[in-house]
Parts: sequence; structure tokens; C-alpha cells
Amino acid sequence: MSEPIQIPDSFAVPGEVAAKRVVITGAGRGLGALLAHAFSSAGASVALVARTERDLKAVAELLPGPSLVLAGDVTHEDFNEAVADAVAREWGGLDVWICNAGISPIVAGPRQTDAAVWRQIMEVNLTGAFLGARAAAGVMSPGGRLIFTGSVLGERPRKGLAAYSASKAGLTGLAKSLALDLAPAGITVNVVAPGWFDSPLARDWRSNPKLEASIVGHTALARWGAPGDLTGAYQFLASDAAGYVTGSVLTVDGGYLLV
Ligand SMILES: NC(=O)c1ccc[n+]([C@@H]2O[C@H](COP(=O)([O-])OP(=O)(O)OC[C@H]3O[C@@H](n4cnc5c(N)ncnc54)[C@H](OP(=O)(O)O)[C@@H]3O)[C@@H](O)[C@H]2O)c1
Repeated sequence: MSEPIQIPDSFAVPGEVAAKRVVITGAGRGLGALLAHAFSSAGASVALVARTERDLKAVAELLPGPSLVLAGDVTHEDFNEAVADAVAREWGGLDVWICNAGISPIVAGPRQTDAAVWRQIMEVNLTGAFLGARAAAGVMSPGGRLIFTGSVLGERPRKGLAAYSASKAGLTGLAKSLALDLAPAGITVNVVAPGWFDSPLARDWRSNPKLEASIVGHTALARWGAPGDLTGAYQFLASDAAGYVTGSVLTVDGGYLLV
């Protein structure tokens, strides 16, 4: 008779993030603000990062739990180091860093291949994530979690978004590389790739009836994502239940990549 599978005495609860110390970049509005509410409501302490301090303060005021407002630019190396140090100093450590700040300044069009636009998008979406991850890894203990906000457009591009798609595809490569490099330190690195969610960044798409119809038509569940559809993916990856998940892309797109 074969050995029965070993059953542990208890199971980690997927998505349990109470008491985690979490940095969220791009937290002044849109998906980052949404994540801040989700983690704070679940009992986490959240450090809010973006350039516009008044936006961060407005988000912080509405959170049910402890928060820090740290205004600055994720493309600056020193700023990322300062955020990691401030959180470690204030809360005695850092458990989760969500590299979510991202831009798509030109919604669609050939200007995505202008050198200046290309550099700007790469600088925020890709270099900003790299610098944040490096700063975070410097202060994290084993069990630390890095989570990047990618995009379905990193896997299936649409016309006119070359720089944005390349930056998001690059994040997947970065996450997989760092997952290897940081495995010995006990830090996991993963990507959440959202499909289409309402936010200031996505509003131009949503308000264009032709684009809106095309997006819904290419989504298996035939609708945009609702706010509550997204946050659980991040909370799962941040929780102890995801300790063996690293170098993965968790797509949350209602089946957009299937159609
Ligand atoms: N909405 C969607 O459907 C969707 C789908 C897939 C992926 N995404 C990704 O999700 C992330 C959030 O997007 P969103 O839709 O929430 O966009 P958003 O509403 O435009 O918010 C972007 C946030 O990033 C911050 N930010 C931008 N540049 C920054 C910089 N250099 N340094 C620090 N913070 C910076 C912005 O604040 P400041 O301007 O004040 O700095 C803002 O808080 C992005 O990475 C985006 O690519 C979104």
C-alpha cells in the first residue's frame, strides 16, 4: 500500500494579509488606490507612493488602517531606497512591495515609437519597477513578496501601443529573472496581468464606443472587470498561501486572452 499524502496540521488562508507591511506604488488613484483600500480593509499597513502628495493624502484619509504617505518619483533610485528605509524604520520591516505605478501617456498611435515617449514609458513602467524591486529586496526578510502590475497587452498587443506593450512584456521577463535571483533570499516575485478595468488611465478607451465594443467583444465574460475582480489576485500572491508561487503571471482578464 502506498504512503498516504501528508496532511498538515493547518493550512494558510489564501489572501490573508492582516499585519502585512505593504508598499503600493501608483496609489494616488486608479488601481493603486483600489489596492490600498483592499489591503487596508484586510488589516495590512500600507505605504502609499506616487508623485502627487495631495492624491495620496486623500486616499490615506479614507483607509481604515495604518498608512504612510511617501510622495516621489519611482524612476529615481534614491527615492525607492528612501521608501524602503522609511517603511522598515516605521513598521520594523517590509513584507510586500507592489510595483504598480504605470503610464500610457499616448493612448494609441504611432507616437508610441517616438524616442522620447518610448523612454518615458520604459522609465516609469519598467525601470521604476526594477528600482523598486531592488530597494525592496534590500530590506525584505525571507517570506517577502514582490508583485508587478503587468497587463494583458504585454502578451497580446493592440495597434498603436508598442512602447506600453513592450514595457509590460519586459516586466514579465524581469519578474522571472528576479524570481530566480531572489529565491535564495526567500523572496517571491510574480506579475498580476489585469485585463480591462475602469481607471483614469483606461477612461479614454472606455469612453470611445468603438474601442469599448471591441474590448467587450474580445472578452469571454463580455464585460469590463469590476474593482472587486482584481484585488484578490494581489492578496493571494501577498499571502503566506502563495509561498511556493514565484515567477508566475496571474492573468485577471475575464478571458480577454482567450478570444
Ligand atoms: N486600468 C486598466 O485597465 C489597466 C489594465 C492593465 C494594466 N494596468 C496597469 O495598472 C497600473 C495602474 O494603472 P491605473 O489604470 O490605475 O492608472 P492611473 O489611474 O493613471 O494611476 C497611475 C498611478 O501611478 C502614479 N505614477 C505615474 N507615474 C509615476 C511615477 N513616475 N512615480 C510614481 N508614481 C507614478 C500616478 O500618480 P502621479 O501621476 O501622481 O505620480 C497614479 O497614482 C499601471 O501599471 C497600468 O499600466 C491598468
